[in-house]
Amino acid sequence: MSKQFDVAVVGATGAVGATMIKILEERQFPVRHLYPLASARSAGKSVQFRGESIVIQDLAEFDFSRTQIGLFSAGGSVSREFALKAGQAGCIVIDNTSEFRYRDDIPLVVPEVNAHAISEYKNHNIIANPNCSTIQMLVALKPIHDVADISRINVCTYQAVSGSGKRAIEELYEQCKVILDGEQPVPEVYPKPIAFNVLPHIDTFQENGYTREEMKMV
Ligand SMILES: NC(=O)c1ccc[n+]([C@@H]2O[C@H](COP(=O)([O-])OP(=O)(O)OC[C@H]3O[C@@H](n4cnc5c(N)ncnc54)[C@H](OP(=O)(O)O)[C@@H]3O)[C@@H](O)[C@H]2O)c1
Repeated sequence: MSKQFDVAVVGATGAVGATMIKILEERQFPVRHLYPLASARSAGKSVQFRGESIVIQDLAEFDFSRTQIGLFSAGGSVSREFALKAGQAGCIVIDNTSEFRYRDDIPLVVPEVNAHAISEYKNHNIIANPNCSTIQMLVALKPIHDVADISRINVCTYQAVSGSGKRAIEELYEQCKVILDGEQPVPEVYPKPIAFNVLPHIDTFQENGYTREEMKMV
C-alpha cells in the first residue's frame, strides 16, 4: 500500500483552509486522517471530506505529534504561536502566511522555481511560501529569467475579494443585495463599499509609501 499521511489543516474554516481540504480530496492526496483545526469559536463544527463529516478541533488543544504534515493558513500571528511547536512535535509545516518568509533558516519555496530549497525544511520542520501574487508571477518569470536575467519588474495586481478571507466574501455578497435593493451599504471589512466597485489599494500604507500587500511582493 502506498504511503499515507496524517494531515492537519490549520484555518480549516477559512477561505484558504476550506480550499486546501477540497484540493486534498480532488487530487486524492494519500490522507490517512484529516485533522481540521481552527479557533475555539469553530471547535465542534464540522467539515466534509471524502463524503465524511469530520469534527473541527481547537488548534490550541491539538497535539501535532499525531500528524506528519500541517498546512497552516490562519494568519501570521497564529503561525508565530503554533508552527514552531508543531515542527518540534515532528510535523512538517507548510506555512501560507507571511510569518516566516524573511527568515534565512526557513526555506521560502515555489516548487516550479526553487524546489531544491525544500531540503532546508529540516532546520525547523517548516516550509514557507510567498504571497499568492508573487507565486504566480515567479512561475511565469523563472524560465524567462533563466535565459534573459531579469533585473527589474514593474507589477500591477488585480485581486479578488477572496484574497481578504471569508468575511470579505460575505461582505461582497451582502452588499450586492443591499445595493440591488436601492440602499447604501455600510462597509466593515473594507474602508469603502466593495460591491460594484474597485478599490485602488490593498491593506494599510506603510511609512515608505507602499502598502503591506505591495511589500509582500518584494
Ligand atoms: N500564500 C498564499 O498564497 C495565501 C493566499 C491567500 C491567503 N493566505 C494567507 O492565509 C491566511 C488565511 O487566509 P483566509 O483568506 O483563509 O482567511 P479567513 O477566511 O479569514 O480564515 C481564517 C482562518 O483562520 C482561523 N483562525 C483565526 N484565528 C485563529 C486562532 N487564534 N486559532 C486558530 N485558528 C484561527 C479561522 O478560524 P475560525 O473560523 O475559528 O475563526 C479561519 O479558519 C492568511 O494569513 C492569509 O494571508 C495565503
